[in-house]
Amino acid sequence: MKICMIGTGYVGLVTGACFAEAGHQVVCADKDQAKVDLLKAGGMPIYEPGLEELVQANTQRGRLRFTASTAEGVESSDIVFIGVPTPALPDGSVDLSFIEHVAREIAAAMTSYKIVVDKSTVPVRTGDKVAETIKRYCKGRVEFDVVSNPEFLREGFAVEDFMKPDRVVIGVRSPRPVEAMRQVYAPFHAPMLVTDINSAELIKHAANSFLALKISYINALSVICEASGANVLEVANGMGLDARIGRQFLNAGLGFGGSCFPKDLSAFIKIAEQIGYDFRLLKEVQRINADQMDRFIKKIADTLWVLKDKTLGVLGLAFKQNTDDVRMSPAIGLCQRLLKEGARLRVHDPVAMEKARTVLTGVTYVADMNEVAEGCDALVVATEWPQFAQLDLPRARAALTHPILFDGRNLFDPAEMEKLGFIYKSVGR
Ligand code: UDX
Repeated sequence: MKICMIGTGYVGLVTGACFAEAGHQVVCADKDQAKVDLLKAGGMPIYEPGLEELVQANTQRGRLRFTASTAEGVESSDIVFIGVPTPALPDGSVDLSFIEHVAREIAAAMTSYKIVVDKSTVPVRTGDKVAETIKRYCKGRVEFDVVSNPEFLREGFAVEDFMKPDRVVIGVRSPRPVEAMRQVYAPFHAPMLVTDINSAELIKHAANSFLALKISYINALSVICEASGANVLEVANGMGLDARIGRQFLNAGLGFGGSCFPKDLSAFIKIAEQIGYDFRLLKEVQRINADQMDRFIKKIADTLWVLKDKTLGVLGLAFKQNTDDVRMSPAIGLCQRLLKEGARLRVHDPVAMEKARTVLTGVTYVADMNEVAEGCDALVVATEWPQFAQLDLPRARAALTHPILFDGRNLFDPAEMEKLGFIYKSVGR
């Protein structure tokens, strides 16, 4: 199939590269000329495991190319995917201006039947608006179909998630685009749910909010575990063995962050409000998430008493493992709060330091994780990078002025840490 992908962010670039890998002819359009130039020159605007190789291989095969002209991308394709940002507005609702702008650009460039597929996360009923907009701005009577195809990929595992999806959701208003969408996804061998557009749009917000709810649930349990002498890891393992519950997204810690969960939760609460439903359950999910960070900072402050002029080593800046993304990162939020309390910070992240420098200043960036502890009063683990479990603990213990480790992601074993002579404080254990 001939596909145009509009937007080369996490979703757009991964989608474009994976479609090309699957054998489709793909053009990725982005209005950011500098980004297009970078991609054309073989550079990568984001870190995502496996993505660079896919982009390079498929560019060489001639199946993937980049353009700064949406019109050119639309003209040369049968199916146009929209993967542009849908950021949050100050009141929590979604800014759909990029989607609207792209819909007008597509309309202006259409000269033959197109399938316009929305991949961005959007409020329910956006598909109707996109269809209205295209109709209004289209020159002449060109036929088109609007499809909703929400993306469920996780950053850090985006290529893997895209190539082996649990499911593909297709929302349509008529049967006409279904066969083409089946062909697009045929190489991925995933179960496909074909539904109406509104339901498809809702599925995305419903799924993300449910996952956030799961995290807040285990974080609330972590408070009960701490107060009662239970171990939240054991509780999560025991719950997770029930196939109806599952073990995933039951890791207690500093709470969730990133560019999706916080934004999607606020948006879903707002969408519900506009429909006349007060989604108190999700408001509580947000509150528990914020409390979790407060509680962790209190734990640090209670142990060190005064944070002013203390030096803390922070391991992890990305919002989670396997990504360089620091947007809405709990780790960055934690650093900023500690700085505000007057602490000095030595920080390290395996891949997110470059991005972190743009949002976190006044700290010392340390290239080697094993050197972070030098001269520190305590160490803090803020992101669940698996390599932190390989930290040279005896060396860290010797380098710390006090052998205290606050583990916001439960990476270490409390008994083991005690044996090594650490004062070890984790979450819910
Ligand atoms: C999420 C959804 O998983 C994905 O399906 C959707 O398309 C986009 O939003 P992502 O934001 O990449 O993906 O990250 P995810 O792996 O879901 O983690 C989100 C946050 O939750 C991270 O801050 C992570 O540290 C935290 N988390 C996750 C926990 O605190 N505990 C867990 O058990 C799981």
